Amino acid sequence: MSAPVRADPQPRPPGGLFRLPGVYRPQHDTALLASVLAEDPRIGPGLRCADLGTGSGALAIGLARTGAAVVATDVSSRALASAWANAVVRALRIGLVRGGLTAAAAAGPYDVVAVNPPYVPSPAPAVRSTRAWDAGPDGRELIDPLCAAAPALLNRNGVLYLVQSTMSDVDKSRHALAAAGLRSKVVARAEVPFGPVVSGRLRYLTERGFVRPGDRTEELVVLRAAR
Ligand SMILES: C[S@@+](CC[C@H](N)C(=O)[O-])C[C@H]1O[C@@H](n2cnc3c(N)ncnc32)[C@H](O)[C@@H]1O
Repeated sequence: MSAPVRADPQPRPPGGLFRLPGVYRPQHDTALLASVLAEDPRIGPGLRCADLGTGSGALAIGLARTGAAVVATDVSSRALASAWANAVVRALRIGLVRGGLTAAAAAGPYDVVAVNPPYVPSPAPAVRSTRAWDAGPDGRELIDPLCAAAPALLNRNGVLYLVQSTMSDVDKSRHALAAAGLRSKVVARAEVPFGPVVSGRLRYLTERGFVRPGDRTEELVVLRAAR
């Protein structure tokens, strides 16, 4: 059976979050993953959750509102400062960890891991100003190591939620998760208009077959993975 497509075809990004310059503005991918997390009845007090690559903290804040204990990680100190400020003004507590997957694993394991990674195929290596979205020639620079590290991040009954574009090959993620010992399924899909990053490199993406000529939308997918 195929995963439900959201009734709202363009899930609305959460607004009202403070962001220091350069921090990712919550977008349709944030909103789609947030809606899936909000529908998981397990998430609540007593669970330990992680938001990997937290950006403004949008997902971490949604998780913390349920009463779960939340760790927000990011390689960007500006992102962590923004997430911290957004939690404080909402009287929520979140733990902060600066770093990538190794640092996140060291602070784990978790019952729930939510990730909206960089996944846009990029002609050049990511730099500080583009690392929120640029993800190497196939868009999988973070997704592949994440799938391999997933078992180390999760408790025995832990669940990983990963949002990505179909541009960065969802089947490849499922195979990588299976190779790591996790079963996965698509739990949500949404067709959304190209954002500014994809629109700005349409020629590159079309030439390499990530986008068909004339396309103006991409499909976002949320994977749920567990042992
Ligand atoms: C697409 S943004 C998502 C932000 C936020 N979670 C959201 O959904 O709005 C990706 C985030 O991952 C962070 N990031 C990039 N590479 C990372 C890595 N190797 N480890 C941890 N975070 C990383 C970026 O700084 C950015 O904040």
